[in-house]
Amino acid sequence: MSRVENQYAEAQQYLAGGVSSSTRVNQAIGRPLFFDRAAGCRVWDLDGREYIDLCCSHGATLIGHGDERVRAAVEEALERGAACSYENELHTNLARLLCETVPCLELVRFTGSGTEATLHCIRLARASTGRRKLLKFEGNFHGYHDQVMYSSLDEEGASLPAGEFRQLSAGMPPGLDDHLIEVPYNDVAALEQVFAERGHEIAAAICEAVYYNAGCVQPRQEWITALRQLTAQHGAILIFDEVLSAFRMAPGGAQQHLGVTPDLCTIGKAVGGGYPLSVFGGRREIMERLMPQGDSQHSGTYNGHPSAVAAATAAISIYRETDFYAHVNQVGKRLFDGLNQQFQRHGVDAHVQGLGARFGVYFGIGEEVRDYRTALRHDREKMLRFIASSISEGVYFHDYGGVACHHGFCRATEIADVDEALERLDRAIGKM
Ligand SMILES: Cc1ncc(COP(=O)(O)O)c(C=O)c1O
Repeated sequence: MSRVENQYAEAQQYLAGGVSSSTRVNQAIGRPLFFDRAAGCRVWDLDGREYIDLCCSHGATLIGHGDERVRAAVEEALERGAACSYENELHTNLARLLCETVPCLELVRFTGSGTEATLHCIRLARASTGRRKLLKFEGNFHGYHDQVMYSSLDEEGASLPAGEFRQLSAGMPPGLDDHLIEVPYNDVAALEQVFAERGHEIAAAICEAVYYNAGCVQPRQEWITALRQLTAQHGAILIFDEVLSAFRMAPGGAQQHLGVTPDLCTIGKAVGGGYPLSVFGGRREIMERLMPQGDSQHSGTYNGHPSAVAAATAAISIYRETDFYAHVNQVGKRLFDGLNQQFQRHGVDAHVQGLGARFGVYFGIGEEVRDYRTALRHDREKMLRFIASSISEGVYFHDYGGVACHHGFCRATEIADVDEALERLDRAIGKM
């Protein structure tokens, strides 16, 4: 048995499912991969096999693994004792940097995970509007808490009867879906209808401003503009869930890229430069509803741990460097074009959709994916074969078990790395 297989066998004795997080089991290979070390755009498993990383910690390592500048910032925080659960000047510095970088941010708070960030935005929106309905969009992912783990579609992707929802996890109490309304993504008519009929009940609309959780689905400009106008017109709060999209294509995230400013947003993954930090924030008068000034609770022992705050400050300074996105776009173009050409050459019906440093690969769809229902038509079995074949050729992709997955690269990826990845992927596609 290999060390990876041994490790999985041992992990299963002590960790539920052999993992610390359910989606870390890569469905394409039927187990997690156990990594030994990582540097830049590469990772090595316990058997010493090297992979070019096109998962990049599910989006958290946008700079690259083990970046020296991030590491130096963390080491300095550790050197000073990393006293947690107390405020220090690092928190204010990071908050200032975030407010200067992301358009909607006037005040922020720190959390440990993206899940907590969406939960607190939703609570805050309900507190500040006195309404309870949450409008969400088909397939968009907002974390693992009980307010959002619902779908208005059945397992085959057909609509459930109006007002009915399917729970996406066992163990959720009945009734929470009473507070939800769900409509398709990118559908202006559906949006206008729901606001015309129920606008007065809606506390908040939450969306993935770039819908990366189904690969890479970009919003139509007229849809995102209508969403901004209708929420404002009906007194509902617009929340952009930028846990995954933040810093991906611009320092100010999807809101900067699209030119649409929400009232609140969440920021996760890349913000911590590979360390556990998420953020929520937005308009001053909404954020001032938080205790102790206001009456909406947000607190947590490990919120804003000094090591993660130091890492995030270093990471954001790197995202703000002038050549960061020029490099990302150059690498992205080479990778996305290269993969599309390979699929064509091998006669595989697949295409790539990408924006900034993240992308989706869609098998068997043959048209641009603009919504969840179209994404659901992808050939999952083929995608799993592609991922398994890529892993065996030394390129790491992750499957999360749901719709078409998101993949990505980091800033440490150079053109030579892309070319090497493409050579490996050419073999992988050939063997699929
Ligand atoms: C858009 C979006 N929101 C929320 C979350 C939840 O974040 P976390 O896994 O940090 O709890 C994710 C995670 O993938 C996400 O992509």
